[in-house]
Amino acid sequence: MVFIIMILLLGLSQSQGCQPYGIRLFLGHYFSYLRNTQDVIRIVFNTQTECKEQFILEVFDNSSVEKLMISKLSYYETQLLNMTQIYENNDTTHFTYETFIHTFKISLGHINLNSSTSYNYTITSEKNSILSGPYKFDIPMTENEQKILVFGDMDSNWIQNYSKDTFDWLENEVKDDKRYDAILFTGDMAYDLESKNCEQGDYWLRNISVFTKRYPFMAAPGNHDWGNNTYFDFFRANFGSLFLKDYNTDHYLNDFFSFDLGMVHIIQFNPIKAVYQNDIYNITHLIVEQMRNDLILANQNRERVPWIIVYTHYPIYCTVPQNDQCKNNFKYLSAFEDLFVEFKVDLYLSGHVHTYQRNKPYYKNATSKYTQKDNVISQYSYPVQIIEGAGGTDYGTQNQTYPNGPFMEIQNPDHGIGIITIKNSTHLYFQHITVSNNKIIDSIWLERSSQEITSNRDIFEIVMWVLFAILMVITGVSIYFKKNQSKKQKKKLLDDSLIMTVD
Ligand SMILES: *[C@@H]1O[C@H](CO)[C@@H](O)[C@H](O)[C@H]1NC(C)=O
Ligand SMILES: *[C@@H]1O[C@H](CO)[C@@H](O)[C@H](O)[C@H]1NC(C)=O
Ligand SMILES: *[C@@H]1O[C@H](CO)[C@@H](O)[C@H](O)[C@H]1NC(C)=O
Ligand SMILES: *[C@@H]1O[C@H](CO)[C@@H](O)[C@H](O)[C@H]1NC(C)=O
Ligand SMILES: *[C@@H]1O[C@H](CO)[C@@H](O)[C@H](O)[C@H]1NC(C)=O
Ligand SMILES: *[C@@H]1O[C@H](CO)[C@@H](O)[C@H](O)[C@H]1NC(C)=O
Ligand SMILES: *[C@@H]1O[C@H](CO)[C@@H](O)[C@H](O)[C@H]1NC(C)=O
Ligand SMILES: *[C@@H]1O[C@H](CO)[C@@H](O)[C@H](O)[C@H]1NC(C)=O
Ligand SMILES: *[C@@H]1O[C@H](CO)[C@@H](O)[C@H](O)[C@H]1NC(C)=O
Ligand SMILES: *[C@@H]1O[C@H](CO)[C@@H](O)[C@H](O)[C@H]1NC(C)=O
Ligand SMILES: *[C@@H]1O[C@H](CO)[C@@H](O)[C@H](O)[C@H]1NC(C)=O
Ligand SMILES: *[C@@H]1O[C@H](CO)[C@@H](O)[C@H](O)[C@H]1NC(C)=O
Repeated sequence: MVFIIMILLLGLSQSQGCQPYGIRLFLGHYFSYLRNTQDVIRIVFNTQTECKEQFILEVFDNSSVEKLMISKLSYYETQLLNMTQIYENNDTTHFTYETFIHTFKISLGHINLNSSTSYNYTITSEKNSILSGPYKFDIPMTENEQKILVFGDMDSNWIQNYSKDTFDWLENEVKDDKRYDAILFTGDMAYDLESKNCEQGDYWLRNISVFTKRYPFMAAPGNHDWGNNTYFDFFRANFGSLFLKDYNTDHYLNDFFSFDLGMVHIIQFNPIKAVYQNDIYNITHLIVEQMRNDLILANQNRERVPWIIVYTHYPIYCTVPQNDQCKNNFKYLSAFEDLFVEFKVDLYLSGHVHTYQRNKPYYKNATSKYTQKDNVISQYSYPVQIIEGAGGTDYGTQNQTYPNGPFMEIQNPDHGIGIITIKNSTHLYFQHITVSNNKIIDSIWLERSSQEITSNRDIFEIVMWVLFAILMVITGVSIYFKKNQSKKQKKKLLDDSLIMTVD
């Protein structure tokens, strides 16, 4: 009798070990400069035990019941994240945590964008029973307007339940089948990702799948995501970022990536070494170089992809008292600031401070040129900066605003989320929503005039034409004067001769 129960328990724990959890979507390298058609959308989940090759991914066109694709046709990999091993030889920190990360990649060949840009997917077992789903994903399209969610600094600890209102809001958007092309997460999750033997991060993955199973989750790493060894192991393994290999070094974790979402080019960078002033291996200039190269390409492509948004965990201008970063980030990040001006970045998003805050265009600790009429901002020579750090967390002070700064337009402590809508090539709409009552408490338009879109090459051409015109005028004027002069000389000669005759 006891024997039979034990077998049953063993069977149960085995199946739990293979139950997918933390289901999440990421945009693949189809959207980065690699334009890899084999890697459009990634569907990622975890299991406690290895469960190798035990899953089938089924994808449906929403208009037919016919399965379009099963995993056998798709890229699939299982990766062990063995934190036990990572901390094995650490003098101060030891713990046991293993998780298996499963990644499916949807390729362009598996779907037919001509017939639909919305698909359902399920994760099933080899024996064809549904383990999870059906869920839905959308492929971001260039033709439509793009809608992007932005928020950060959020946990799922449920001690004070401070993030519950944000979770509920997101869950409702999924239920109402709202379409968003991506989530830009501005960093700091779970407080901390690797705390309590990574249990904190593991619970976070399980909790966020409520919305990450529906919307691609593109995360910037924050200072609470780096783990005790500061290597971001849990973050990098679990949050499928679009890293490029070129700049990987031992000391540089390549925390830079970018992607195009329809009409907007989005750049994520992680300047943690610069803002904490511990860049002992001098890697910040590598990120600057990488961003410059990226922005050169983005600017060449500006006619097709006119908008540029940069996001990260760290704000440049904030007013938390006695905070070194709020005082000095404009110095620590000045090389990046210069790039934002040179390449006309439109919007800078961050988290870190647990409020909503919108700043004026600001550069080198002073107002930067811009025009504002009602809530329409145009002719800006520096990006509008927004802090979205109010996802809700037990950590730190709650419901607090900070002293006013000369750069500040609005500050609000309530838990909230930003929504960016790229309407077309000249109009971007930004709204901030308080999640507890779904009220829009702030909204602005960014307007790019056609003049602003003028590229450097065009400016060069204009300068050359102006120079040419000036040259023509000078030539014309000098010919006129030459003619006049010779007339005068002739007249003089005539006069002379007249005089002579008179004489
Ligand atoms: C994880 O690492 C630990 C320590 O090195 C090792 O004992 C364990 O077998 C590893 N787990 C797996 C699944 O490889
Ligand atoms: C990480 O380090 C801090 C102090 O350095 C310690 O309190 C904490 O328990 C460590 N975390 C783990 C998972 O060991
Ligand atoms: C989709 O439409 C384009 C142009 O209309 C065509 O070139 C392409 O072959 C179509 N793709 C599929 C998979 O039908
Ligand atoms: C399928 O998705 C398209 C958008 O791609 C939508 O217009 C249509 O209503 C959806 N159909 C169903 C049956 O859900
Ligand atoms: C797609 O999934 C949604 C739930 O996310 C469900 O309501 C709908 O019926 C599914 N459509 C198909 C064709 O499976
Ligand atoms: C969410 O996290 C909490 C604790 O942080 C945990 O108790 C709960 O089980 C998690 N939810 C899910 C669905 O795993
Ligand atoms: C948090 O929410 C849970 C479930 O809704 C509830 O049981 C718990 O009492 C709440 N805790 C606080 C501090 O409000
Ligand atoms: C070990 O952990 C400590 C913090 O607990 C960290 O400072 C140190 O860099 C880690 N060592 C290695 C080799 O990862
Ligand atoms: C860091 O590297 C840059 C570029 O190579 C160099 O100009 C700078 O002097 C270096 N800084 C330090 C502190 O080594
Ligand atoms: C930056 O500007 C603020 C307010 O205008 C001023 O108080 C502060 O001294 C300035 N910082 C530096 C380093 O110039
Ligand atoms: C903070 O704001 C939330 C709603 O955003 C509210 O539920 C909570 O009671 C507030 N807490 C304090 C300490 O004011
Ligand atoms: C772009 O969108 C704005 C706001 O919806 C609208 O006023 C403007 O006419 C649009 N421009 C073009 C070229 O469609």
